Amino acid sequence: MAKKQPMFSCRSCGYEAYKWLGRCPGCGGWNCFDEAAPRDARGSVTVPPALVTPLSGVPLAGHERLVTGMAELDRVLGSGAVAGSVILVGGDPGIGKSTLLLQAAAAMAGSRMVLYASGEESAVQIKMRAARLGVSPDLLVAAETDLDALLAAAGEINPAVLVVDSVQSFYRRELEGVPGSVTQVRETAAELIRLAKERQTVVFLVGHVTKEGTMAGPRLLEHMVDAVLYLEGDRYHSFRILRGVKNRFGSTNEIGVFVMEDKGLKEVADPSHFFITQRSRSACGAVVTASMEGTRPLLVEIQALVTASGYATARRTASGVDLNRVALIIAVLEKHARISLAGLDTFINVVGGVRLVETAVDLTVAVSLVSSLKGRAVNGGAVVIGEVGLTGEILPVGRMAARLAEACKLGFKKGIIPQANLEELRKENAPKLELVGVSDIAEAIGVSFL
Ligand code: TYD
Ligand code: MG
Repeated sequence: MAKKQPMFSCRSCGYEAYKWLGRCPGCGGWNCFDEAAPRDARGSVTVPPALVTPLSGVPLAGHERLVTGMAELDRVLGSGAVAGSVILVGGDPGIGKSTLLLQAAAAMAGSRMVLYASGEESAVQIKMRAARLGVSPDLLVAAETDLDALLAAAGEINPAVLVVDSVQSFYRRELEGVPGSVTQVRETAAELIRLAKERQTVVFLVGHVTKEGTMAGPRLLEHMVDAVLYLEGDRYHSFRILRGVKNRFGSTNEIGVFVMEDKGLKEVADPSHFFITQRSRSACGAVVTASMEGTRPLLVEIQALVTASGYATARRTASGVDLNRVALIIAVLEKHARISLAGLDTFINVVGGVRLVETAVDLTVAVSLVSSLKGRAVNGGAVVIGEVGLTGEILPVGRMAARLAEACKLGFKKGIIPQANLEELRKENAPKLELVGVSDIAEAIGVSFL
């Protein structure tokens, strides 16, 4: 038999070598080589063969969904959390991750065993927060940062749900690196994933986000878990949006809407009311659109401000919509509607800290800019929906009936929509709104400011 060769592998990226190296050629890290597990002569680790079963023979028992009791959270997860799944909840510091999970944990604690482990707060601090939130006393808490102590505790009490706040605050003693380092974060996540799969526990992990907008520690964490949710919002606004960016057991289109109040996060079942200011139906530069957020239409207000620029190059800023998309819309306005914004500063803002990614709001951005430029409100306080094409045409958008129904519900009387959508709506039973169909940008601007 050939002599077994020692193998070394990099702790950070898994690069393998036959000798110990000071610097890893894979990731460039220093001092990160460990001796790997012994291998046999063919170079593969000696393990028993994997258990192979026909898919039809795999039992589904125990994989039912666990309803958290917070409807907006359940919506984003896809009607509750799947047993044995690991859900990462990310967000900026102070946005409300601990509040959300403490509330969810307490809501679940009524009917099953829930352990809330915090490496960031003491038991007394958790108690104070819980008292403020008015949550259930059945919740089990652990103020701990040692991963092995947490695993031992979870092994002993076997909770149905384990909340770990945050993944960056736990560490394993024998590993190098401070809590929050790549090695520690990866180890913590891997151990908790193992626990979840072995015991069918639902594990919620809190993850901090760096300034660059990615989860602190490795991006790797997002690949390891079953679902990634981001809690977003402006710290100075009370709205919080929970958005699914990855979900192995459901869609990532849904959003959950909350408002942060003095007694914690309150769910908003009917969010359209919140994203429209009362003045918007008569204000210059403010136009309302209906954007689809998952299966729900959401009415949101886009505000534009166009002013004379004091600088050689005009400023273009946008919050809540893509700045490149705004640049495109400005170019189309100039070329196809003969409306020039050259030498003018333009600012776009979406009310309430909502982030719109749909092209269905293009026309709304265009009309809000012109509204501010002309100093005139949109004709009839209309809701404006449509995608703008590069040749100036207004392209139809999906789910128009649902969008208009939402506008109708909130008391809008008029809608400016793509002509193609209008024709299609005639076939169905159209909502009770006065609708104007437009097929190009010049026509759209014309009917918006009669
Ligand atoms: P927190 O959940 O601690 O944020 P994270 O865990 O994401 O860092 O939320 C902190 C903020 O929420 C804090 O600035 C105060 C505010 N807050 C409320 O407005 N009402 C409340 O009931 C609670 C508990 C927090
Ligand atoms: Mg926190």
